[in-house]
Amino acid sequence: MAIVITVATISGITGLLALLLSVANRTIADYGEKEILINGEKTLTVDGGDTLLSALVEQKIFIPSACGGKGSCGYCKVTVLEGGGEILPTELGYVSPEERKAGVRLSCQLKVRENLKIQIPEELFSVRQYEYEVAYIKDVTPTIKHLRLELPASEEIDFKPGQYVQLLAPKYKGNDSEVYRAYSIASSPSDTKAVELFIGYVERGIATTFVHHYLKPGAKVTVVGPYGDFYYHESDKEMILVAIGTGMSPILSILKYMRAIGSTRKATFYFGARTCEDLFEMETLAELERDLPNFKLVTCLSRPEESCHWEGNVGRVTNMLEKYLMDDVTHLDKEAYLCGSPVMIDSVIPILTKKGVPEAQIYYDKF
Ligand SMILES: Cc1cc2nc3c(=O)[nH]c(=O)nc-3n(C[C@H](O)[C@H](O)[C@H](O)COP(=O)(O)OP(=O)(O)OC[C@H]3O[C@@H](n4cnc5c(N)ncnc54)[C@H](O)[C@@H]3O)c2cc1C
Ligand code: FES
Repeated sequence: MAIVITVATISGITGLLALLLSVANRTIADYGEKEILINGEKTLTVDGGDTLLSALVEQKIFIPSACGGKGSCGYCKVTVLEGGGEILPTELGYVSPEERKAGVRLSCQLKVRENLKIQIPEELFSVRQYEYEVAYIKDVTPTIKHLRLELPASEEIDFKPGQYVQLLAPKYKGNDSEVYRAYSIASSPSDTKAVELFIGYVERGIATTFVHHYLKPGAKVTVVGPYGDFYYHESDKEMILVAIGTGMSPILSILKYMRAIGSTRKATFYFGARTCEDLFEMETLAELERDLPNFKLVTCLSRPEESCHWEGNVGRVTNMLEKYLMDDVTHLDKEAYLCGSPVMIDSVIPILTKKGVPEAQIYYDKF
């Protein structure tokens, strides 16, 4: 009996404290309405106290937030020209000393407690929220799913080949918060009614568990975008494309776009995977090789299983690229597009620069 009374008393006190905290939040911490002047031309009136990221999202201005506001991706940077106080310890790891001097802040960490003047890239004004329907979702490797998401008949999305969208993973059993995660678009921008994504499973990952275990054809999903400065650049320079795993997504979008515009650019795609089972979209790439007159695919497996009798390149994609570039005696001005893990990209960049590819012509997305 004594135990029951003690438990009931503790629960009562905890409940009362929670209530007091919530009342205090709404009264003591009431910052009232604040004004945010954006790019010197657009003024928003928002409720103070929220993060700048949330305040902007409320007003349908979608700043990229690949980690969903956890302060762990560094994508939500905005330049704060006035207001905002001192930079927070949680921002320091993502803001360089030069950026700090220029007023760059992580909008998911900064709370709107006073009027602000901020600067954001103009293209973020065209980022929109879409409700897509899952047309299909299928396994292409034991760990990667291919999704096609379609828009209602009256809507269209405009994006550049190589860009990404953010998919909202809602609450589900075992996950009590909504999170946005970034996924590169694999389809061509000429397909304005849909986006295709390749999503790899991450053990205990919030969004990938949702996609791999809960998302079904016919379901509605919220997508925000497009985002990103990794995209196809019009020119006639020879292209070196390098990707591993789902890093193939934006490269596919670029190649499909090149096919749609009848491009004759010379392009070689170096794709690395672990085993034969991890190869995907090989038929699509073979079709692209057939349709694009100067495109070549070079694949490489780091650990081919004996059972698949692999006769192609073996090793890391970086070694393969080095080998192919060594044999390349052309001195044309080249352009490179890299997508995959930070480790892969950080080892490919020096190989390319050593071969004379200017850093300004090396575009990449790390994930
Ligand atoms: C610009 C951009 C484009 C991207 N495009 C794609 C894409 O096309 N396809 C795709 O599959 N992913 C892509 N990603 C990665 C994606 O946004 C998520 O980070 C990833 O799907 C994990 O999300 P999650 O919510 O499941 O994992 P979380 O819940 O965020 O992470 C769970 C745990 O796993 C760790 N973790 C996260 N990612 C990995 C990983 N890859 N390997 C090992 N551990 C990890 C985290 O540190 C954490 O400890 C992209 C990321 C960026 C920034
Ligand atoms: S949203 Fe990822 S750091 Fe701010």
